[in-house]
Amino acid sequence: MLLGVNIDHVATLRNARGGKDPDTILAADICEQNGATSITTHLREDRRHIKDEDVRTLIKTLKTNLNLEMAVTEEMGQIAFEVKPHSVCLVPEKRQEITTEGGLDVAGQLEKITEFVKKLKSAGIIVSLFIDPSEEQVRASAKTGAQFIEMHTGQYSEAFGTEKEETEFLKLKNSAALAQSLGLKVNAGHGLNYDNVSRMHEIPGLHELNIGHSIISRAVFTGLAKAVREMADLTK
Ligand code: PXP
Repeated sequence: MLLGVNIDHVATLRNARGGKDPDTILAADICEQNGATSITTHLREDRRHIKDEDVRTLIKTLKTNLNLEMAVTEEMGQIAFEVKPHSVCLVPEKRQEITTEGGLDVAGQLEKITEFVKKLKSAGIIVSLFIDPSEEQVRASAKTGAQFIEMHTGQYSEAFGTEKEETEFLKLKNSAALAQSLGLKVNAGHGLNYDNVSRMHEIPGLHELNIGHSIISRAVFTGLAKAVREMADLTK
């Protein structure tokens, strides 16, 4: 499985002060040097973390691929045509949500999404649809012409270690098999962490995992000792 690292929360931290630290471009570079096979960012309508300038710089500096998550809006379509990321992952977006809460309702907006997918593909962009692992959404996704789905692993992640884990896991496994039988490639992500990620190996043919929050959270601790030591040396 490949690992796409989502760097949105490096930008969240940067935006808390409004300056340049921590630098999203340096963060992406370090991710690439340490095993990330792509960099994912979600350009939200409210620009709460990643900003347009981040995306425009990343596209020039990345050595791997940029996977740009976006809502199905005209504004985002324009940005995609201009920036031309390697891939776009279409996600639902609600202004008030803390993070992407559910999958895209492809079945309920088939015509609109099919049209959007067609335009992105005509610009040479690979398209993925972020959907809940359900038969209805997988079948609808296959009709849009998108090459990939990304299965929302949020429910599985929340259920991990509880009696609901197996049910949620089987939804992922069965949806992946169905998607592959319909010619789709399958990614997965949301809520994956250092404990629950290992079961993704039980899903045959998963292409890429997109993981952000748990990696950036762990980085605080794995990097904190060195950061304090360096400052302590400077302040001695
Ligand atoms: N995939 C998609 C489509 C997402 O929206 C997100 C969260 O922005 C992720 C993956 C990564 O989720 P997490 O930050 O929980 O690892």
